[in-house]
Amino acid sequence: MKGVVMDSPVLDLRQLHDPRIPDTSLEALGKPAERRALRYANPADREEFMAGRVALLYFAASLLDVDPTRLVPDYRCPRCGPGQDHGRPGFMLDGGPAPLALSASRASGWVLLAGVVHAPEELRLGVDLESTGKATFEGFDGVALTAAEKRFLSSIPDQERDSQRARLWARKEAWLKMTGEGLRRNPAGLDVLDLPGLRDVTERALPDGLVAALALG
Ligand SMILES: CC(C)(COP(=O)(O)OP(=O)(O)OC[C@H]1O[C@@H](n2cnc3c(N)ncnc32)[C@H](O)[C@@H]1OP(=O)(O)O)[C@@H](O)C(=O)NCCC(=O)NCCS
Repeated sequence: MKGVVMDSPVLDLRQLHDPRIPDTSLEALGKPAERRALRYANPADREEFMAGRVALLYFAASLLDVDPTRLVPDYRCPRCGPGQDHGRPGFMLDGGPAPLALSASRASGWVLLAGVVHAPEELRLGVDLESTGKATFEGFDGVALTAAEKRFLSSIPDQERDSQRARLWARKEAWLKMTGEGLRRNPAGLDVLDLPGLRDVTERALPDGLVAALALG
């Protein structure tokens, strides 16, 4: 078992077409993921979804130092319960919940993975990866930001605003994955400038045009 300091999750960033992400049958991803994969109309979207799931499966297996075939995905949604095709990622190991807190995010052909081994059951983790070019849209500030976040944006130089918007959005999604709510919660009511346990991912270099955030609580 790899030693992991509880409050410093292991992070891994991979390209979704990385040859280190093995070709794995849909079956290994579990029935709910198989059903979701088959619903994608665009084959490229299906492949990215599967590659992200496979990357997380192998990442979890390496953190636990077990063969990936021993892990059975079990995604839990706070609304729909266990065994879903969506929600918080998790795995069963030999019939019981694998002792892991996990989170994952895909953007622009990359997947960011985060995990804590032997996390206390209540530990929650959220990561989000965003492309600075794609995170925002016309009217974004109005629907996504709090008054304090808008003031922050108006206090910085124009040319930094788009990357800061993406950074704020990554923080919101990381936090909402950590709580499990996702975008069921109104992001414009969640101020992420200074929340305990929430931070930008700075410990590893990200490719140009990507920002990431991590929430632990
Ligand atoms: C969580 C959410 C904000 C992430 O969306 P995104 O930016 O499009 O995608 P990302 O690649 O960054 O993250 C997706 C990953 O977040 C994780 N995730 C999804 N929902 C999650 C939740 N409720 N709690 C924690 N993690 C969650 C999964 O690992 C998912 O990976 P998958 O696509 O392989 O299933 C968005 O999916 C959401 O708001 N979901 C809640 C609403 C919902 O799921 N409704 C469905 C029926 S209840």
